[in-house]
Amino acid sequence: MIKEPDTLMLIGFMGAGKTTVGREIARQHHSKFLDLDREIERAAGMSIAQIFKEHDEDYFRRIETQVLSQAQTFNGVVATGGGVVERAQNREILKNSPATLVYLHGNLESTISRLLAEGQRPLLQEKSTADFFQLWEARDPKYQEVANFTVETVGKTPQRIAAEIVALF
Ligand code: S3P
Repeated sequence: MIKEPDTLMLIGFMGAGKTTVGREIARQHHSKFLDLDREIERAAGMSIAQIFKEHDEDYFRRIETQVLSQAQTFNGVVATGGGVVERAQNREILKNSPATLVYLHGNLESTISRLLAEGQRPLLQEKSTADFFQLWEARDPKYQEVANFTVETVGKTPQRIAAEIVALF
């Protein structure tokens, strides 16, 4: 069941703490860290906010699929974007991935308050709370479908979540 953890990939809803926890695991283990959102920005030559403004979500998702494919053999910890499970093509990539996939599972309330504090998510700005809830409900089974492990994050510090993930191996 446990794959060789050469690549550890964190998945979960926006605001789940994938980047913070991923950086923490990489720091503790002196391994490399890759943030797919930053790779998308690098590939597009503009920020995520600009991609959504000047192009559209479909354009963003196409680049996301490219960088996701390239990241499969990255040796280290990878944080994905919350919508990485939206495309069936991406879910296939993830299911066949040599990486170990860990789903950071939170709750809607803590996620929304974290996102409002952070700002910067184009999809959050477009959506009402009801839409956001729908997105949450629709994505949860998709994360479950591809994940090797699910870690509950509510009420836990990034350090504790990182330690729980490391203890899985
Ligand atoms: C998205 C999540 C974002 C980013 C983009 C789209 C989503 O990443 O990829 O804004 O569809 O949920 P985070 O999960 O790091 O916020």
